[in-house]
Amino acid sequence: MIIGTPLTDNATKALLLGSGELGKELAICLQRYGVEVVAVDRYAHAPAHAVAHRNYVIDMTDAAVVKALIAVEQPTFIIPEIEAIATVALAEIEAQGVSTVVPNARAIQLTMNREGIRSLAAEQLGLPTSRYAFAESFAALQAAVDQGIGYPCFVKPTMSSSGKGQSMVKCADELAAAWDYAKSSGRVDTGKVIVEAKIDFDFEITLLTVRALNAQGEVDTCFCEPIGHVQEHGDYRQSWQPQAMSAAALARAQAIARTITSAIGGLGLFGVELFVDGDQVWFSEVSPRPHDTGMVTMVTQRQNEFELHARAILGLPVDTRLLQAGASAVILGGIAAQGVGYQGLAQALAVPGSAIRLFGKPEAFVNRRMGVALASADSTDEALRLAGQAASLVTVTPP
Ligand SMILES: Nc1ncnc2c1ncn2[C@@H]1O[C@H](COP(=O)(O)OP(=O)(O)OP(=O)(O)O)[C@@H](O)[C@H]1O
Ligand SMILES: [Mg+2]
Repeated sequence: MIIGTPLTDNATKALLLGSGELGKELAICLQRYGVEVVAVDRYAHAPAHAVAHRNYVIDMTDAAVVKALIAVEQPTFIIPEIEAIATVALAEIEAQGVSTVVPNARAIQLTMNREGIRSLAAEQLGLPTSRYAFAESFAALQAAVDQGIGYPCFVKPTMSSSGKGQSMVKCADELAAAWDYAKSSGRVDTGKVIVEAKIDFDFEITLLTVRALNAQGEVDTCFCEPIGHVQEHGDYRQSWQPQAMSAAALARAQAIARTITSAIGGLGLFGVELFVDGDQVWFSEVSPRPHDTGMVTMVTQRQNEFELHARAILGLPVDTRLLQAGASAVILGGIAAQGVGYQGLAQALAVPGSAIRLFGKPEAFVNRRMGVALASADSTDEALRLAGQAASLVTVTPP
């Protein structure tokens, strides 16, 4: 492909729908190739706004607003970073053929709703998943659990992310509270929840999978080394790469990732979430975009997940090889305040092999991710220790 000159009529233009910390790193990668970057979010001064040519603050769930913006900008690529987007608008735009939706409009539609992606994975593709059911009433939920899902189980809104509205239910007494929580906390009330049997896994991984063009112009599927991670309240706290696993489990994980990403199609990087127990692997979900647990690749790979996504989108060759072991540990707000300060950066960066990203978010919340500490080392255990130490040395202070 030909890349144009930014801010001229022939610019290669990327419209980022969602401008968080993942969008910020992606924007920087696109900027390096001379792409004109337009960053959109629902609030002002979002992380990627700081590194874009232009930015907008709009309600991305409003199809008319999204369509109007796309009509003005006429981007080459529309790159969703979040799930809460009016996907109907994207399908229409894609059909008009002016812009490429990354990886494609159907992928965005399928993955924003747990029902779409779960039905595709389990029913159409036959991939192993937890036992699951959808329920539109408490009675239906109770019946599904009694008739086979069992306890413990997870109840989740069909449209939510970062663990919102999600609870683990250990016994019958807790089911009603889980139903109420899921119904009231989803991004959109679809009227439905998913209930999933709890998988007793040894560990969970994100398998970053890239669909990119090779030298012959054909789509190749490439895998990064598996990333292990720890989740708390449905949000990630630490991740490391590579996660050690048996050759059989890795082969299964890659086969699952290849199947689901081939079914989705398009070009780009995907975060395939999998549960692993010995040689057994279950599919959990997939994001058609860089993954928060994949921030560790900023210190482990020659081409990190953002660079890989940018290259795949632009039709450029990719290299997913690992250079060294590493880990990431999140830096949470710890307080709720606007215009906070960050103390201890010098101490954190004195930790050997460490790196820090501060996202520059205008407002902190107790559990909001404000930054991330990264570290590379000879082993993932050592990298985890160093990343944790670096993260703990950064304190968020009131203005
Ligand atoms: N069926 C299950 N069995 C065991 N653990 C589960 C199950 N479902 C969810 N979990 C745990 O909860 C975490 C969050 O679940 P899930 O990925 O479905 O939610 P999410 O809201 O989409 O989170 P995110 O957007 O951060 O990926 C998982 O990473 C896993 O640790
Ligand atoms: Mg998840």
